[in-house]
Amino acid sequence: MDFFEYYANLFGTRWDSLREALVRENRPMEWRVGDAESYFLDEASWFAANALAVEPGMDVLDMCAAPGGKTLVLAKALAGKGSLQSNDRSPDRRERLRRVIMNSLPAEYAAIVSVSGYGGERFGRYRAESFDRILVDAPCSSERHVISSKEHLSLWNPKRIKRLAVEQGALLASAVDALRFGGELIYSTCALALEENDEVVKKIMKKRRGLLEIVDLTPKFQGTERTECGLRMLPDLCDGRGPIYCAKLRKVIPPEV
Ligand SMILES: C[S@@+](CC[C@H](N)C(=O)[O-])C[C@H]1O[C@@H](n2cnc3c(N)ncnc32)[C@H](O)[C@@H]1O
Repeated sequence: MDFFEYYANLFGTRWDSLREALVRENRPMEWRVGDAESYFLDEASWFAANALAVEPGMDVLDMCAAPGGKTLVLAKALAGKGSLQSNDRSPDRRERLRRVIMNSLPAEYAAIVSVSGYGGERFGRYRAESFDRILVDAPCSSERHVISSKEHLSLWNPKRIKRLAVEQGALLASAVDALRFGGELIYSTCALALEENDEVVKKIMKKRRGLLEIVDLTPKFQGTERTECGLRMLPDLCDGRGPIYCAKLRKVIPPEV
């Protein structure tokens, strides 16, 4: 099965308009704090980072942070108080992340941001119960990118979705373990495939049964769709924004024994 067949099966009659919207230019928003350099990011990406509801003084982890648009949103919310660890496994992308932090944040906001390069799967083990908020903006199928690249289209294969879903599940499990009790996380992707979105969330709810609750998210843009566990913003319905899927989970404080 090729890419187009797979998504035509998934979206049925909607696929033609979604496909057109995916290849159209999106409309990024200009994001700026004070005198720092502007950064352009998709409004649906801004939504996912903003939905983490970070407050000054919190300890925050951005597990898959490069190139850094969402890290900027989290750092702005911290306003120079607390800590933000912006992590990404890729050395090249980390360089870009460092530049983005340096250029697009005022120095006092950048001062509490540290950049690291661990595999996100390791945080649960080595930094257990250490963060108040975690963003898991997971590596995903990125169909908007694939559809515009002959090379990526020729390499596309449904097995890739399954492989990514396993990786995403490991990152999310690690995030749950790295979260303090009462802490919250956002799991987000720019994937269309359901296996990379609600299915990943449903698996972790089962695996960590009793430890997590789903937090309701309020849609901001017209055309946002509610899914079983979260929200999805797709460009055909959301005026060019997305694709972004996001779900919010809270780690429940265990009852006293
Ligand atoms: C969707 S992108 C993140 C985009 C970023 N949050 C932003 O808003 O600019 C996913 C990132 O995950 C990184 N990544 C992939 N596998 C990883 C892993 N196991 N641990 C940490 N980062 C990983 C990739 O290098 C990539 O930069």
